[in-house]
Amino acid sequence: MRSGVGGRSLAAFVIVLLLLLPSVVQPIGGEAKPRSRGHTGERIIGGSVASPGQFPFVVALMVSGQKTDPVKRQFCGGSIIAERYVLTAAHCVGVAPRQRLQVLAGRVNLRGEGGQVRRVAAIYRNPNYIDARVGYDVAVLELDRPFAFNEAVGAASLVTEGDESLQQPGSFPAVAGWGSLVRQIPGKKARRPHYPSAMRWTTVPVTTRDRCQSANWLTPRDAAVVFCAGSGAHDSCQGDSGGPLFAHHDGEWVQIGIVDAGLGCAAPKFPGMYARLSAPVINQWVRQIAKL
Ligand code: ARG
Repeated sequence: MRSGVGGRSLAAFVIVLLLLLPSVVQPIGGEAKPRSRGHTGERIIGGSVASPGQFPFVVALMVSGQKTDPVKRQFCGGSIIAERYVLTAAHCVGVAPRQRLQVLAGRVNLRGEGGQVRRVAAIYRNPNYIDARVGYDVAVLELDRPFAFNEAVGAASLVTEGDESLQQPGSFPAVAGWGSLVRQIPGKKARRPHYPSAMRWTTVPVTTRDRCQSANWLTPRDAAVVFCAGSGAHDSCQGDSGGPLFAHHDGEWVQIGIVDAGLGCAAPKFPGMYARLSAPVINQWVRQIAKL
């Protein structure tokens, strides 16, 4: 044995290694759960499976066509705000022709059975939505015929104009959808998204305006019409767009936001962005279109 690499310094080296190991193995800022192969766990990001009837207003937007797997046909989320009207993101509509759009309500598992499917009779995009950078990522779909409300299918109430009480920084509204479960950090190697067949939901912390602004430097949306929520452990992700951000209040579900955009998913520095439904310009427009 060479001198210098004696028993004592080897022991010291092993102790240092053991001390370092946990922080190397565990994702910093993430949950302490072990990573499963290929992705960071079972998440919307950081969420759990919704049970039937838990969120009766959450719908899946699907495109009809050659694909048979419903998980592949789902491309966005949405929410029922009246029997005949669904709220979604403007960037979700216009990707497929209206005739091929389907709205699925009352089913948690896309590969399962049951629920109600409607077609889209008219698409209303918020007139202020010019492209993805300005915000106003809001659209209303008018259905070919009304949903039949029951335990599994119903409407969320749209937040009252100007009411910000449910979206103070630090509050935890919920978001639900069939979006990817895979965490993405901008600048890191891109990972393949994984789309679940069952709806998932999680709660996300609303951030301050400052944190939202610094997260959105690439896409300077006006804070008057956009706000942020999410953390390094909980976020919406690709495929959740158009879905609702909502809170339980006075015995009902109140929708305060629409999944708009994000840099990566559950990136600690970049919370997700949501259309601000309390903003008068957005709120009044939705109410007028959906006759609320
Ligand atoms: N734009 C995405 C979609 O079309 C939603 C991204 C949300 N991202 C986030 N980090 N919260 O599905």
